[in-house]
Amino acid sequence: YFCGMEILIQNIKGLVQVREKSPRWVAGVDMAHLPVLENAFLHLKDGKIENYGAMEEMPLINADEIINASGRFVFPSFVDSHTHLVFAASREEEFVYKIKGMSYQEIAAKGGGILNSAKKLQQTTEDELLERAMIRAEEIIGFGTGAVEIKSGYGLTTKDEIKMLRVAKRLEENTPLRVKTTFLGAHAIPKEYSDRNDYIKLIKEEMIPAVAAEGLADYIDAFCEKGFFTPEETEDIMEAGKKYGMRPKIHANQLHISGGVQVGVKTGALSVDHLESMGEEEITALQNTDVMPTLLPGAAFFLNMTYPPARKMIEAGLPVALATDYNPGSAPCGKMPFMLSLACIKMKMTPEEAINSGTINSAYAIELQNDYGSITKGKVANVFITSEIPSYAYMPYAFGANLIDATILNGEIIRS
Ligand code: NIG
Ligand code: FE
Repeated sequence: YFCGMEILIQNIKGLVQVREKSPRWVAGVDMAHLPVLENAFLHLKDGKIENYGAMEEMPLINADEIINASGRFVFPSFVDSHTHLVFAASREEEFVYKIKGMSYQEIAAKGGGILNSAKKLQQTTEDELLERAMIRAEEIIGFGTGAVEIKSGYGLTTKDEIKMLRVAKRLEENTPLRVKTTFLGAHAIPKEYSDRNDYIKLIKEEMIPAVAAEGLADYIDAFCEKGFFTPEETEDIMEAGKKYGMRPKIHANQLHISGGVQVGVKTGALSVDHLESMGEEEITALQNTDVMPTLLPGAAFFLNMTYPPARKMIEAGLPVALATDYNPGSAPCGKMPFMLSLACIKMKMTPEEAINSGTINSAYAIELQNDYGSITKGKVANVFITSEIPSYAYMPYAFGANLIDATILNGEIIRS
């Protein structure tokens, strides 16, 4: 552990996402622009970005560690603004059902899906959950993520929702990741409730106050979807969370046009996420709001669904963010570089748009845009160095490859 270590990275082929002044997000036509400084240096000090510039203007720097990045690119670490990475077990048996033709809803109705994950999580101790989540945390760090949002929603009882959120908090203490947490008690209605209103009442009157009392959640979420939570129920739960200081971030329009986008706008959500089903009205509803449309192409890929209409949203002047949705049911993958590939290949986003979406815009989606998501003086020293690649576009192009050679988080080199 090198405290206050000073690092100089020099001869960088391309320093990606350099912003003298960080925007809160980039939207519309601006998303096509990715500022890159060629033949650059980057100076990290006291866990922060101290300075950067062109090699020929590099001042004398007395660094503890000097890294030569010739032929390599340096990116700000990815921000993964939507995950469910605390879970007990994988669900590849459902994967096989899906291959054989069952739908996500049919599997859920059979007691698979979220309720299956909840059953397993309820039987797993907090320490075991942490151990399993730690492996995933290390995995995503290796693929360039430096900050991550983690949801509850596989507990579905007060004590198990709290257990999940405690694990998410402990991940932040035990890894170099910056973690934001979201309470997703409204993920599914447990089988024991013959009257769904009893469960919603429990969420509002017991779970939210208990989560807030321990300061366990920054945000409140609900799965607004046919067969899960209606727009009216979602709105009610969002308002209940807001009373305890949790800002809404909503699972909206994954399987149908669910009304979730409009509820997000109405309740002042920070983001509406998924958006596989979007009509013109949904796109219009998001214009001139502070809501970040967040796309999770890993889920559309895994469930073999239509992808969100990213081009239409960008052409309507909206920003978009990218995240993995890392979870055992619909997106068992926490690798942001693969999301960039899906964004480009399946949603026709350019590499510049994809990189903006997975850095500065996803940082906004968890209120970290002032400290993460770009190479800006004073921001947290979270960067990764690629292997020797011809251009930054090679990152989404070479899908599935791990092109990350070294990671620095909080100004410290991660050695794995
Ligand atoms: O974001 N859509 C709801 N929640 C998760 C999947 C949950 C599960 O199947 O375990 C998602 O896709
Ligand atoms: Fe999700």
